[in-house]
Amino acid sequence: MEPRRKLISPILVSLFGATVGGALWHSDAMAQVPPGRLLASQCSQCHGTDGRGPGFAEIAGKNKYGDLRDMAHRRVEGVMDRQARGYTDEQLRLLSEYLATTPESGGGN
Ligand code: HEC
Repeated sequence: MEPRRKLISPILVSLFGATVGGALWHSDAMAQVPPGRLLASQCSQCHGTDGRGPGFAEIAGKNKYGDLRDMAHRRVEGVMDRQARGYTDEQLRLLSEYLATTPESGGGN
């Protein structure tokens, strides 16, 4: 019994350390990422990276929350109405706030 117990406790200690260390690293990394960024990454398929084009209308550097919320709640007519419906109002607010902080392309597309 004794030798086995001696072997198990270092394993438990290192598992605990890895878990806590991982959690700390994780929260540190998350703190540096704006909350809407991951949500807004979906938009890049059609609006370019950070909404800067090339693609459909440029959405970088502007807060389009009001428009997006309208799109999400009105009768579906176009592509964007369907896109906006995929998010809660809170998610639309977060991703709009993120996109508002991104630099515009300067009219290149
Ligand atoms: C499948 C393609 C597609 C995706 C994905 C997409 N959009 Fe769009 N979006 C469009 C199209 C098409 C238009 C209409 C563009 C036009 O005709 O000017 C548009 C228009 C818009 C407009 C209106 C722009 C303006 O100034 O009139 C906004 C705002 C917008 N999109 C935001 C978003 C956001 C935010 C996301 C991510 C949540 C997103 N879009 C994802 C295709 C897409």
